[in-house]
Amino acid sequence: MDETDKTEHYQARIEAALDRWLPDLDTAPRRLHEAMRYSVLGGGKRIRPLLVYATGEALGTDPEMLDAPSVAIELMHAFSLVHDDLPAMDDDDLRRGRPTVHKAFDEATAILAADAMQPLAFHVLSSDPALTAHPGAQVTLVRLLADACGSEGMTGGQAIDLASEGTRLDAAELEHMYRLKTGRLIRVSILSAAACPPQPDIEREHALERFADALGLAFQIRDDILDVEGETDVIGKQQGADEARNKATYPALFGMEHARARVAELLETALAQLEPFGAGANYLAYLARVIAERDH
Ligand code: IPE
Ligand code: IPE
Ligand code: MG
Ligand code: MG
Ligand code: MG
Repeated sequence: MDETDKTEHYQARIEAALDRWLPDLDTAPRRLHEAMRYSVLGGGKRIRPLLVYATGEALGTDPEMLDAPSVAIELMHAFSLVHDDLPAMDDDDLRRGRPTVHKAFDEATAILAADAMQPLAFHVLSSDPALTAHPGAQVTLVRLLADACGSEGMTGGQAIDLASEGTRLDAAELEHMYRLKTGRLIRVSILSAAACPPQPDIEREHALERFADALGLAFQIRDDILDVEGETDVIGKQQGADEARNKATYPALFGMEHARARVAELLETALAQLEPFGAGANYLAYLARVIAERDH
């Protein structure tokens, strides 16, 4: 399979797994379940699940074991996007080329749909039959995801992001915010695969951590570049939204040239970490390039 086929294969796999775990439309309360399915299904690049499977390829992990962490991480990602778009946060009307959840439904339903996706993520991790033979790994997966999303992880990063609107952060402060709000979910995608058997040795685990750190940062800087330079139709979000809200972003604070150079530098750093994995990490390296160079 070439890389495009592989991406389609894993996207179909995660789509089916998400569909299986989400409550169906006939189950009450129906409007809540409709909003959950709307938030999660039918769109999205599925970059985090792809990173889970790609890391699994580099380590020789059975993909059956990776479905639950992929679903759980994508659910947490979807929850973070629904809240991120709310009027109280970024106040966005467009996501994945469609009305945001609070626009398609209403604010209360959006809040509740996101609320319900968090416990569902932990339900999936703690009950998927493919993991029950590995209780140690299962507990680690739960802890990794909880830490990635908590007040010192993604949620903390979102708090810093909101508090930083209209302020001038220095580069270290801005990168700290990016590492939390976006980097932690990218990082947990890679570390979750590494937490499943066969676990890598400590040196390889550290190499994957460095890879994930660089990639998470590159992902958010690229997102910020696309907010400025992308087209609404292509990115599926309103172009120029960050500037309109006076967001603290890399392009706004340090200029577009600097933002691009930083992404290129981070991609180099990320790719260098994959050398010890040889050809097994080819797909992971491909995804790193996609993240750094994507147009949506
Ligand atoms: C958007 O994430 C939010 C950020 C962390 C920048 P993605 O760009 O992965 O969004 P989808 O899932 O593909 O829509
Ligand atoms: C989002 O950052 C980070 C999280 C949702 C945790 P952004 O606010 O830049 O994401 P988009 O651009 O709305 O997707
Ligand atoms: Mg935001
Ligand atoms: Mg946003
Ligand atoms: Mg953005």
